[in-house]
Amino acid sequence: MTPADGRNAAPADSAFIRACRGLPVEHTPVWFMRQAGRSLPEYRALRQGVAMLDACARPDMITEITLQPVRRHGVDAAIFFSDIMVPLHAIDLGVEIVPGTGPVVEKPVTGEADLDRLRDLAPEDVWYVTEAVRMLVAELGSTPLIGFAGAPFTVASYLIEGGPSRTYTKTKALMYGRPELWNALCERLAAITLSFLRVQIAAGASAIQLFDSWAGALSARDYERFVAPHSRAVFAGLSDVDIPKIHFGVGTSHLLESIAEVGADVVGVDWRTPLDAAAARVGDRSVQGNLDPTVLFAPGEVLEAEVRRILTEGKAARGHVFNLGHGVMPDTDPDALTRTVELVHEHSS
Ligand code: CP3
Repeated sequence: MTPADGRNAAPADSAFIRACRGLPVEHTPVWFMRQAGRSLPEYRALRQGVAMLDACARPDMITEITLQPVRRHGVDAAIFFSDIMVPLHAIDLGVEIVPGTGPVVEKPVTGEADLDRLRDLAPEDVWYVTEAVRMLVAELGSTPLIGFAGAPFTVASYLIEGGPSRTYTKTKALMYGRPELWNALCERLAAITLSFLRVQIAAGASAIQLFDSWAGALSARDYERFVAPHSRAVFAGLSDVDIPKIHFGVGTSHLLESIAEVGADVVGVDWRTPLDAAAARVGDRSVQGNLDPTVLFAPGEVLEAEVRRILTEGKAARGHVFNLGHGVMPDTDPDALTRTVELVHEHSS
């Protein structure tokens, strides 16, 4: 199916939106975190000589890159091509995305004075997001577009560490040692995140996903104390918007109840927790996941068996959106992704 098909149908009637809402579907919908990116040769060709954050500021590039996996794989939803650091770049915080490393922050946050650099985001700051979402919604027809943003904890971790981290030492030191500064920082980040999501929703996104990728680094107690209130503020700020909201983190087996309760309709689950076990813990919510991204490197029979297992386990939830347990790895064979879409559709209808 190409994006132009089904122009008369609405995204609201799509399998993806219906599964998010826990309504009956004709097949289990599937999309992949990081589907718009480096696993695709057509993506790499387009990005030649263009820095990541420059690409994220060009409506033509955003639109094309967002559509590439929809055309190639026939996924049931598009994810907006951008990055969790785009809003901070847009307010001139001094962020870069270094190939092979990830986000790097020129002057990390160390004290109260840094808070002034975190002004709120205005729609004009990200005019290219509005333009690209509008173009995409027109192109995608009945295929829903997922908008997204980074949750306060995950974004704060880059701001405080200055780049990626395995231990989050500086982040946790600030959180434990200077809770007032931590809360003030996360309040600002929640406001920026909310503004960024609102821009995407106003321009026509059909659903949103809040990525708290690194929240799994915290104990359940610390998550409740230091993180949940700020993520909850983001969802509360969207309570007037009737579109599905997804919340995702990696390594969150011990946090699923808490993550579910901050306000999402759909809880993203990584590959460590079977979906039936997850479903029993997230209340009246749908689940999204949870194929281990490395299974895409395994023989076809293994992939098929894993897809079938996950579809069976997903039946325990009120709704299931098939996805990976985390993002597509850059060296994934794109054909394995296309095959996964076929398998999900075939075995669920
Ligand atoms: O999912 C999609 O296809 C949409 C686009 C998307 C990107 N980043 C594009 C990107 C999304 C949803 C993100 C979210 C994001 N960015 C998260 C949360 C999701 C997750 O994976 O946990 C995080 C933690 C970031 C921060 C970030 N940006 C990292 C860790 C990296 C990878 C660093 C590396 O090179 O290994 C980036 C860069 C980035 N974001 C790329 C893409 C396609 C690769 C840059 C490139 O192509 O040059």
